[in-house]
Amino acid sequence: MFQFTKPVETARLTLRPFALGDEADMLEFESRPDVARYLYNEPRTPENNAKELAARTAQTVLLAEKDALTLAVDLDGKVIGYVLLVWLSEEHRQGEFGFVFNPEFQGRGYATEAAAEMLRIGFGKLGLHRIIGRCDVRNTGSARVMERLGMRQEAHFREAEIFKGEWGGELHFAMLASEWRASPLSGGAEEATA
Ligand SMILES: CC(C)(COP(=O)(O)OP(=O)(O)OC[C@H]1O[C@@H](n2cnc3c(N)ncnc32)[C@H](O)[C@@H]1OP(=O)(O)O)[C@@H](O)C(=O)NCCC(=O)NCCS
Repeated sequence: MFQFTKPVETARLTLRPFALGDEADMLEFESRPDVARYLYNEPRTPENNAKELAARTAQTVLLAEKDALTLAVDLDGKVIGYVLLVWLSEEHRQGEFGFVFNPEFQGRGYATEAAAEMLRIGFGKLGLHRIIGRCDVRNTGSARVMERLGMRQEAHFREAEIFKGEWGGELHFAMLASEWRASPLSGGAEEATA
């Protein structure tokens, strides 16, 4: 079980729960076709964006398997993206993370910086043993984030599903708690339990 109680400050960013006032910032990038290209959702409309935002405001606690922790990434008062961590298995201590950013703020290392905090929470606070990340094989930006974090590519599933009307391939990356503890990003990771 993990409850997110107070905002986390990274070198340049604040990770905090979504609030209803984030609607315009969120729609600014989540309505873009280039952002949704490799996501399961379509570009958001004002209506479904508002519904999704309302759901995200409650995604601050991991109580049971399949619960998601979803955090807004705030740069000087503007939401420039979000990161999430899904609790896949309590028994096996597995999780999955993800990240989505406004293209106007890409190419500056913000996604890597914020995603590293989700690894820190997953391993350090929730006590996960393994965290995975998945991306479309054509989503090189996403794969590069996971490589920069020191994750290992464990699989390339070729044409494993029909994604947005065509055969899609998927890369699976993973990191173990022991690998996180050994990573320079963890800074020692004294809280890790696995
Ligand atoms: C995936 C996604 C988050 C990657 O964003 P990104 O901006 O490339 O990633 P980062 O913020 O970590 O930035 C990394 C880039 O910034 C550069 N950079 C500049 N300043 C930097 C700094 N201070 N620290 C680290 N990197 C820096 C890096 O060299 C790197 O460039 P490169 O990709 O040319 O090697 C983004 O493309 C996205 O939101 N896509 C749409 C949603 C999506 O597909 N999400 C993933 C679903 S699986």
